[in-house]
Amino acid sequence: MITIFGATGDLSHRKLFPSLFHLYQQDNLDQHVAIIGIGRRDYSNDEFRKQVKASIQAHVKDTKHLDQFMEHVFYFKHDVSDEQSYDELLQFSNQLDSEFGLEGNRLFYLAMAPNFFGVVTDYLKSSGLTKTRGFKRLVIEKPFGSDLASAEKLNKQIRKSFKEEEIYRIDHYLGKDMVQNIEVLRFANAMFEPLWNNKYISNIQVTSSEVLGVEDRGGYYETSGALKDMVQNHMLQMVALLAMEPPISLNSADIRAEKVKVLKSLHPLGAEDVRTNFVRGQYGEGEINGQSVVGYREEDRVADDSDTPTFVSGKVMIDNFRWAGVPFYIRTGKRMKRKSIQVVVEFKEVPMNLYYEKDKHLDSNLLVINIQPNEGVSLHLNAKKNVQGIETEPVQLSYSMSAQDKMNTVDAYENLLFDCLKGDATNFTHWEELKSTWKFVDAIQEEWDQVIPEFPNYKSGTNGPLDSELLLSRDGFHWWDDIH
Ligand code: BG6
Repeated sequence: MITIFGATGDLSHRKLFPSLFHLYQQDNLDQHVAIIGIGRRDYSNDEFRKQVKASIQAHVKDTKHLDQFMEHVFYFKHDVSDEQSYDELLQFSNQLDSEFGLEGNRLFYLAMAPNFFGVVTDYLKSSGLTKTRGFKRLVIEKPFGSDLASAEKLNKQIRKSFKEEEIYRIDHYLGKDMVQNIEVLRFANAMFEPLWNNKYISNIQVTSSEVLGVEDRGGYYETSGALKDMVQNHMLQMVALLAMEPPISLNSADIRAEKVKVLKSLHPLGAEDVRTNFVRGQYGEGEINGQSVVGYREEDRVADDSDTPTFVSGKVMIDNFRWAGVPFYIRTGKRMKRKSIQVVVEFKEVPMNLYYEKDKHLDSNLLVINIQPNEGVSLHLNAKKNVQGIETEPVQLSYSMSAQDKMNTVDAYENLLFDCLKGDATNFTHWEELKSTWKFVDAIQEEWDQVIPEFPNYKSGTNGPLDSELLLSRDGFHWWDDIH
């Protein structure tokens, strides 16, 4: 049984139902499945199915078996804060359980406003919904708290009803194929791991830039901003995957233990570190694809004098033997020049440059991992220029996923739902990871709260504020924009 709270919302229609349908179509969803969509509105089953069907048709090309799938989908009108409503949900669940032969397996998906997370889990327990002979699992969307203290409180409340191993905290970046590939590239190839440390790597850059603005999410975004919306989760998760030690096995506990170690070794940030190593920005008006766009403060449901950052870049240092001294530069923002999620690993220069006179440098060797929209990997090397003499020129070995393969790549949500149904929590955030990332982000927020920023400080359609360029040039580096 998959019970989705918030089933009439955007996430359910854009991601969850299309992903579940695709899993069903590919035979990756048990035939013994029933999906209850929960919402506040007064829909009949038929009305709800019609809407879900339309969303699936809008998102999935091949809709073979759609009608069959729809027979597994049900609507349940429910007020999450009404205790009695859970008793009815229990009865309905039991009824579908015997109709579909579900053996008491229950997955609860909370795709709803976070202020209800705790209430729902409390009632799931008190109503008896979690007392089941099969498995019970909780999938929970972000934001998980708004700082360490609130995350701790929420975690405590949820843990009254679910054990840590039953909680699947979603970070959709961990479902992306190329993010999952970071680990494979590192640990399935002999050529990277020996170089993967402070002896050979000068810096690592992790960027997630978006062209879109805040769209219709101003209300939520005002309470979060780029630091909590992107850095606390997606950006630091990518850093953890890039920096972790090889796990002793691919077992979920072993992998997550290594990630936790990295996150625990993030260099603690004092006020001075934040001031010098972190840059915040907010987009002003500008041009995107030849069209003028408004600044953040003019967006819907955003305060005229909002101090919410829509851009963050920073230098993250990891205090351990492997990484001491190597900056991990992270950067994320809305209304930037291009949509790109990319990792660039920049290697140190060879010990002695034989090819140029003293003051000239060889180009850096780079390993570029393209996560989105292009998916692939490239290696940038120096080779002999095709002329007499000894001049070198940069050459590139690249692999990019073929259009054919790309068509078959599944959405991050599909990967994650599949994992969760299998009971594999590897690509979900463990509480220990969250604890460290919140601690890190809280230190930045605390310092930022002391000073009113001069916003807006970057034009829409650019790479963010000038300070973000200076962050790297100070260290003798630059962002590898326009690299593939
Ligand atoms: C979400 C954030 O987690 O990630 C959004 O809440 C952001 O603000 C989105 O736009 C970016 O995801 P992706 O997969 O498009 O990079």
